[in-house]
Amino acid sequence: MAERVVAEAVGITELIDLTGKRAFVTGGGQGIGMAIARRLVEAGAVVIIGDLDPAAQAAAAAIGAGFAACDITEPDQLDAALDVVTSAGGLDIVVNNAGIFPTTGPMIDVTDAFIHRMLDVNVRAQFSVAREAARRMQHGGSIVNLASIAGLGGGANISAYSASKAAVISLTRSFANELGPRGIRVNAIAPGIIDTPGVQDQLAPLQAGGVDITQRIAANPLGIAGQSDHVARVALFLVSELAEFVTGHTLIVDGGATA
Ligand SMILES: NC(=O)c1ccc[n+]([C@@H]2O[C@H](COP(=O)([O-])OP(=O)(O)OC[C@H]3O[C@@H](n4cnc5c(N)ncnc54)[C@H](O)[C@@H]3O)[C@@H](O)[C@H]2O)c1
Repeated sequence: MAERVVAEAVGITELIDLTGKRAFVTGGGQGIGMAIARRLVEAGAVVIIGDLDPAAQAAAAAIGAGFAACDITEPDQLDAALDVVTSAGGLDIVVNNAGIFPTTGPMIDVTDAFIHRMLDVNVRAQFSVAREAARRMQHGGSIVNLASIAGLGGGANISAYSASKAAVISLTRSFANELGPRGIRVNAIAPGIIDTPGVQDQLAPLQAGGVDITQRIAANPLGIAGQSDHVARVALFLVSELAEFVTGHTLIVDGGATA
């Protein structure tokens, strides 16, 4: 909680005013997406959370955001959700956050169905979100894609996930080149391990096996457990005018884990 106090002391909302901006956050029902949506609301934006989990509706209401039930892999649902946002007058900010990270495991055991699902959500659907958003955005728009430090390199037992996030980093650069002339910036965030419900689910078997997962989450040079709000503050910077000359960039938010 100490890090929240630091952010409040620097007066983020005095630096960044998103009043009048309309934002769409995929997978904003919990975790990183929820924290980003909360910061966008705090900065004055009208925020719609798109999530496949119906429980996200109450979570969205609790932070003052709207909700559009939406599985980003289903084009009709994605279209309908974006229509909800644009009906508020337009679309300025998209946080392309929804993603999955089931344990990949040894590459010799990975099935085609697993690879297909991983790439379908994390690459194909994220691509669709960016494309449909770009079609609706005006000059001054901003897209932030959620990549991962896993996408910066490789590693044992993470091959499919790592490849999907490497693709996100690559798409971010290509989209920035294509959309820059239209005044739309596209950046990515590569978080290290962040304590979210999704990560807690994934680490539960380790915890049951006696591994100290708190220590695992804080395994970085700063020794701080990564929190969703660490990522949210960086997302807020990237979508704001403070970053008006920044596009095609992948910003690492990992407490120095990859330093
Ligand atoms: N938590 C981490 O350590 C970490 C690290 C690096 C990158 N990331 C990336 O950040 C993003 C968010 O991670 P998180 O830990 O907050 O996840 P999470 O699992 O805690 O939450 C993900 C949210 O996305 C929603 N979602 C999943 N698939 C969806 C779909 N097809 N359509 C719409 N909504 C969908 C879920 O319902 C959930 O509300 C992901 O892209 C993830 O890969 C997370």
